[in-house]
Amino acid sequence: MKVLGIMGSPRIGGNSDLLLDQALAGAREAGAEVEKILLVRKKISGCLDCKECNIGGSCAIRDDMPEIQQKILEADAVIHSGPVYFWAMTAQLKAYLDRWCAFFDADWNWHREVYPRMKGKRIGLITVCADPNVHTADPIVHSFKTTADFTKLRWIGTVMASATGKGEIAGNPAAGQEAFELGRKAAMLEQA
Ligand SMILES: Cc1cc2nc3c(=O)[nH]c(=O)nc-3n(C[C@H](O)[C@H](O)[C@H](O)COP(=O)(O)O)c2cc1C
Repeated sequence: MKVLGIMGSPRIGGNSDLLLDQALAGAREAGAEVEKILLVRKKISGCLDCKECNIGGSCAIRDDMPEIQQKILEADAVIHSGPVYFWAMTAQLKAYLDRWCAFFDADWNWHREVYPRMKGKRIGLITVCADPNVHTADPIVHSFKTTADFTKLRWIGTVMASATGKGEIAGNPAAGQEAFELGRKAAMLEQA
């Protein structure tokens, strides 16, 4: 059982990072092997829509994303975490998500070889925004959840929290607990 955490904030040690750590702690407690990827430490270009992946099954861009795609394929669950930037996801998270394109053929079906490894994969999301109304992050939820629904991944849920200063979320144990439970759920659904 592998749970992969994708950290989409450029602020390492910030709120998204702390909540993702909580989620991964929950997954570890439930018996999963966990790994966290800090997108800001990776070189990930935007999708070029060159269609090479539609034909050959692999991405034409030689950067860090193909390695991350392998880790996604190997994981049983992927939990994403990131802040709201201008009512949307960060550039790091968007570049990453657009590169999921490499998993699909020209008709937006999974490539035959990735389908068995993506089918039923669990996917979750943590968002943080400064706005006290956490629904300011709804566009990010929409993006990830619709992607999951469209591709028949199993959506395990969302943790939406509000915080501004770096690490401020540590003062919100309820959000930390919610993230922990999301991680447990990521690791335990198989037995449910
Ligand atoms: C460039 C930028 C844009 C932001 N835009 C928004 C926004 O539209 N709505 C909001 O509620 N917070 C916004 N914020 C605040 C962050 O979402 C907030 O500080 C969050 O806690 C940062 O999370 P992090 O510590 O994981 O980076 C923005 C912050 C930055 C740096």
